[in-house]
Amino acid sequence: MNTESPGKRKSKKKGKASLIDYEIISEIGSGATGTVYKCKLKSDESQEKYAIKRIKIGKKSKDVLKEVFMLKNISHPNIIKLHTSFVDSEYLYMVMEYADGGDLLSLIKKQKDAGKFFSEKCIWNFARQILLGILHLHANDIIHRDLKSQNVMIKDGVLKIGDLGESKFLNKMDYLSGKAVGTPMYLSPEVIKHENYDHRVDVWGFGCIIYHLTALKPPFVSDTIEGLLKCIQFKPPKHLQGCYSVKLKEFIYKMLEKQKSKRPFVTELTSMFPSSFKFERIVDTTNYKKCNTLTNCTNF
Ligand SMILES: Nc1ncnc2c1ncn2[C@@H]1O[C@H](COP(=O)(O)OP(=O)(O)O)[C@@H](O)[C@H]1O
Ligand SMILES: [Mg+2]
Repeated sequence: MNTESPGKRKSKKKGKASLIDYEIISEIGSGATGTVYKCKLKSDESQEKYAIKRIKIGKKSKDVLKEVFMLKNISHPNIIKLHTSFVDSEYLYMVMEYADGGDLLSLIKKQKDAGKFFSEKCIWNFARQILLGILHLHANDIIHRDLKSQNVMIKDGVLKIGDLGESKFLNKMDYLSGKAVGTPMYLSPEVIKHENYDHRVDVWGFGCIIYHLTALKPPFVSDTIEGLLKCIQFKPPKHLQGCYSVKLKEFIYKMLEKQKSKRPFVTELTSMFPSSFKFERIVDTTNYKKCNTLTNCTNF
């Protein structure tokens, strides 16, 4: 992967957003498709931070890039905002909202290292926020296709889905073989079998995230990629801890239904939440902060 600092590259087009407008503060990290940098706008005195993802586009068609540019119109509190994007000869740059709190996988790891489970209330609260984001995507007929705990970011205590449109840059075979992402632990059975997928591929990813939050390990694990792909297709996930309610477990198992036709759509999931979790669009950050400090495994 090319790790040259994007600060050295300049866009040739005048009058449009370009890399020269930004000051690169630091490199945050790299994933399957590119590298993410923490930046600020040189002209902006407010010191607001942005995350710029640089993706090598290769021979991607203009149609794919057009679709990515359309994502600028998506605005929701539980989705990382794409502010602007631009291309130079080799790379696509996506200027996104910067999430200061890291991603959900890091939070799960912290919890696991501390040997503490998330409270059930906290899990429902997280699930509600992610679901609101997915509902908005699906209402706009956007399928994420790469929902995973690394792609759920935390900003000021609010959960936000990131990397919309990025799946278009993932090579399917690299993904299946694990070359692109390390361990493809959230792949759905239909993607493994090269079958057609629909919006319910995101319900599978969502189910994997909530299972991971609950068990502090992913639903399917194996020492080899082949073993993992078999587990995903044929094995039921390991039973979840007894201290969580039947309601939560059923919610998760329903999303991890291997047959796509038996898996619910996201719109059907709202009725499976406890009645105290209303589906208004306001995100309660105080509640998140409160339950993030609750580490006992309690019944809801
Ligand atoms: N909008 C963002 N704000 C802050 N950090 C981000 C943002 N998007 C991605 N990151 C971080 O950048 C790193 C690389 O992300 P990415 O390329 O999406 O790979 P992956 O999703 O596979 O971890 C990760 O540590 C991720 O948490
Ligand atoms: Mg990502």
